[in-house]
Amino acid sequence: MRYMPRVQRRSTLARARSTALHLSLFATLVVGLAACKTHASDTSPAGGNEVWGPPGAAVYAQSCARCHGAYLEGDGTAPPIDSVRVASLGDDPLRMTITYGKGQMPAFGGLTTAQVNDVIAYLRTL
Ligand code: HEC
Repeated sequence: MRYMPRVQRRSTLARARSTALHLSLFATLVVGLAACKTHASDTSPAGGNEVWGPPGAAVYAQSCARCHGAYLEGDGTAPPIDSVRVASLGDDPLRMTITYGKGQMPAFGGLTTAQVNDVIAYLRTL
């Protein structure tokens, strides 16, 4: 009977060690996953485009900047994209303009729904 407490003490220690090991493995996993996630969100959906920042910024740079300008200043024909105008338009009218074009603005039917949503979200942050 005297022998029992010693066994229990040892097994408690072993359990504590194993818990510590599991915790550190878990921490490594969480940090690893967080790193993967950060990396994935930095990847442009346009693919192969090295623009960093929100995904919509890459879509804008690739599809819109040549007319509306890198700083949304417009080019004389394409109007500047100002935040007041963008704020006055709902998502649906913006989606229609981008997908089907408007006046002299060409249609961007080749963009995916996600890319259209991303670029709209981007315009709304400006
Ligand atoms: C070939 C030039 C060109 C490109 C490329 C272009 N636009 Fe335009 N955009 C225009 C012109 C021209 C207008 C003015 C249309 C009108 O009101 O007749 C316009 C208008 C707009 C408007 C205002 C719409 C409104 O209802 O007032 C928004 C917002 C817009 N463009 C966003 C975009 C976005 C986002 C992209 C990229 C996906 C893009 N444009 C690409 C030429 C362009």
